[in-house]
Amino acid sequence: MDSRPIGVFDSGFGGLTVARALIDLLPNESLVYVGDSGRYPYGSKPLEDVRGYAHEITQWLIDAHDVKMVVVACNTASAAALDELQRTYDRPIVGVIDHGVNSLLKVSESNNVGVIGTVGTIGSGAYQTAVTAADPNVRLVCAACPGFVEFVERGELASDQVRVLAQRLLSPIVDAKVDALLLGCTHYPFLARTIAEAVGREVVLVSSADETAFGVRSTLVANGTLREGTPVPPVFLSSGDIDEFARIGAMLLGPEVKDVAQWVSTGAAPTEVSNEE
Ligand code: DGL
Repeated sequence: MDSRPIGVFDSGFGGLTVARALIDLLPNESLVYVGDSGRYPYGSKPLEDVRGYAHEITQWLIDAHDVKMVVVACNTASAAALDELQRTYDRPIVGVIDHGVNSLLKVSESNNVGVIGTVGTIGSGAYQTAVTAADPNVRLVCAACPGFVEFVERGELASDQVRVLAQRLLSPIVDAKVDALLLGCTHYPFLARTIAEAVGREVVLVSSADETAFGVRSTLVANGTLREGTPVPPVFLSSGDIDEFARIGAMLLGPEVKDVAQWVSTGAAPTEVSNEE
């Protein structure tokens, strides 16, 4: 039994897909979520910069909240920094890439699969490596989808513009005739309807959120660190506009996103200022 919170972070709203799965699967756990909306998108930035952000937020979650575990709820940050974070910090650090690949390979019947993600994630080769390590006989087609994250951050999930962009960016996936497509960016499940329309309803869309939550539960069980007792509300922080984060966050995750506190990056020791009275 360990009552300390679990830290979760992403470049913005995407990690809320993982936070939702964690809240649903592990309602007794306490969560501290940092959405780095002030510096999003991560996917078009050099991986070294994203690695720096990942270290800064992880260190802050440990220093300010003594989190018992950190969930890197962002594919780009997982691709850029997961191994290094796991080597650096003295507590479990969980990413989304291997969990997503597990789900993808479980649902595919044809072994002809797709992964979409940010330019940073797809360019890193992390998915190509993870899929080949899991099963070298799988045929994988990858596509980067620059622009999707910006639509989600604006709360624009089904406009004509995002539909047109999806049709253009997803044409290599349609041409490859995959039977399962992994949404390899935690923002993308919020665009699931638009993506399904573009690739065809027969393609199974896979999100890494649930499998990641199951992975978190297994680690907590194995370490004897599940939290027991009365649930406490999750804590949300954003490095961007906190009122906007509260408004769009509640629309995307649900009523658990209420008061959002400001997270300020100082490069070394970020501080927290609440918007609560
Ligand atoms: N949600 C992050 C991911 O899974 C992404 C994005 C971004 O800021 O570009 O990669």
